Amino acid sequence: MRELIDKLYKNHNLEKEEFIYLIENFDKDTSEYLFSLAQTTSQEHFQKEVYIRGLIEFTNYCKNDCYYCGIRRGNKNVSRYRLSKEEILSCCQNGYELGFRTFVLQGGEDPAFTDEIMIDIIKAMREGYPDCAITLSIGEKSYDQYQAYYEAGANRFLLRHETANEEHYKKLHPESLSLENRKECLRNLKEIGYQVGTGFMVGSPYQTPECLAEDLAFIKELSPQMVGIGPFIPHKETPFKDFPAGSMDLTLFLIGMLRLMLPNALIPATTALGTIDPKGREKGILSGSNVLMPNLSPIGVRKKYELYDNKICTGEEAAECNVCLRNRVASIGYNVVEKRGDFVEI
Ligand code: 5AD
Ligand code: FES
Repeated sequence: MRELIDKLYKNHNLEKEEFIYLIENFDKDTSEYLFSLAQTTSQEHFQKEVYIRGLIEFTNYCKNDCYYCGIRRGNKNVSRYRLSKEEILSCCQNGYELGFRTFVLQGGEDPAFTDEIMIDIIKAMREGYPDCAITLSIGEKSYDQYQAYYEAGANRFLLRHETANEEHYKKLHPESLSLENRKECLRNLKEIGYQVGTGFMVGSPYQTPECLAEDLAFIKELSPQMVGIGPFIPHKETPFKDFPAGSMDLTLFLIGMLRLMLPNALIPATTALGTIDPKGREKGILSGSNVLMPNLSPIGVRKKYELYDNKICTGEEAAECNVCLRNRVASIGYNVVEKRGDFVEI
């Protein structure tokens, strides 16, 4: 096991069979060894700095029907909302004052946000916050649409591939979505010049170690600037309601592997990780993550953007998130910084 991890540390890649072997056989010792190398790698590139991204969940309408997702079209028990441009800008203002220098506009695939409206919002954010990065997380669009948002001032784009295995992709999504188109979108985004983030859920229904090995190989090949992974968590109003949540230990192990594969990548400790374990985000950082993505959405809508059950930071306590997060990061000897935290080539 250690030999394989040393090889990953040295070559930043492994054969598929070797990935599978690690995923199937890792234990506590192996994990600790991996995490120590992952932390060394993170600190080489980022010292002990943790970047924060302010997440603005601006619409929970979605035209898609992914089987895992709580805001899927088929869920009639969600109270749907859209934020206005003014509400979005006020989230930015609030975030800016709290030290955020990256804003992430995330939403379902909502046709009401036409290109014209999106471009107007992006331009207003670009003008109001010239020193901030604007990240979009709004799903699959055409090359020209991505290009237009880029020209309006967006810099980064998050689009998880969800799974790199064709068969598995079909088990997670209805026929209207295809892995081929997903990959095409990711290639287009890179070509246009976005810093691109992809990723997948750990422990999604029907996932096998082979699927995960394919995810890692796909990520290595795409070579994205950001990778977000988090455990699958069932949502009670979806077809996957009775499936178990993904494993935290496996999620942490994969974060460690990703850090060795992509030493300078931006890797968040996700909210889903913080949801399955109260210390999940801290453990993520100690496994190789260097980004946190707290919520800047108005408190009144946070419960409505539930992709999975029991999402943290959606209740009364949410007003304290900023302080809470800084304390959490400080408790493990790292510190939150007020920087854009762009990807830096090595
Ligand atoms: N559990 C965990 N993550 C989920 N996502 C969507 N639904 C769930 C769920 N039930 C993730 C997907 C998506 C991202 C925004 O949230 O990977 O890309
Ligand atoms: Fe939201 Fe801790 S980060 S309460």
